[in-house]
Amino acid sequence: MVGGTVQVTPPTPPHPLPPSVGPLPPRAGYPAHMHGDIERILIDRERIAARVHELGEQIARDLVAELGREGSSPEASQRIVLVPVMVGSIIFLADLMRELPMKLSLGLVAVSSYPGQCLKSKGATIRGELPSDLAGKHVLIIDDILDSGRTLGLVRSLIMEQKPASCRICVLLDKQTERAVNVRADYVGFTIPDAFVVGYGLDYAGHYRNLADIGVLRVEDA
Ligand code: IMP
Ligand code: MG
Repeated sequence: MVGGTVQVTPPTPPHPLPPSVGPLPPRAGYPAHMHGDIERILIDRERIAARVHELGEQIARDLVAELGREGSSPEASQRIVLVPVMVGSIIFLADLMRELPMKLSLGLVAVSSYPGQCLKSKGATIRGELPSDLAGKHVLIIDDILDSGRTLGLVRSLIMEQKPASCRICVLLDKQTERAVNVRADYVGFTIPDAFVVGYGLDYAGHYRNLADIGVLRVEDA
């Protein structure tokens, strides 16, 4: 368009916050046939977005302070590497990294721990390669959920072998359950009860990652 008037769409009014825990309301983002599979929403999209924003601010502050303590120049933020654990962290990663206003890079790691239709981790296995250039870098491992601790325990120990300058862990969800491996996350979005959750990147047998909220999967009695 040349020399015309730019039409600006008025902002939509803020969506009223629904109760954080409740039955699944008929909202955009849920194909009708998926409704019955979700018992209830645990964390809705508005709460997720607000918390991811807070996490981003906190992480950015800590990274800037850390680089400042080292006396590094502003360009030193090039040494910040996010290591997202694929596939579950993709949506969290996409939102969180846009809250980090600094120069950084990504090094993906793929881990599988729930073969087929399983609700309990069967042990973590690295699929493919781990980023190999992490010596001297400030690494932030990002995952969707900390459960038994096997996944993050494995990823963290392999990264530590490379002698990064620092290595922190950020998870969106910390499940209150017994850990098989002792791992503590430095940044936690939400602490949740011991239930199997899906949505916002989290799956069951490969499905439900595209749900915009986080819900508890309905488990049929055997
Ligand atoms: P951990 O190795 O048992 O700590 O489990 C971590 C991985 O298992 C996460 O990266 C998730 O991909 C997956 N996971 C654990 N709990 C859940 C859940 O409730 N829903 C979906 N995926 C889960
Ligand atoms: Mg995972």
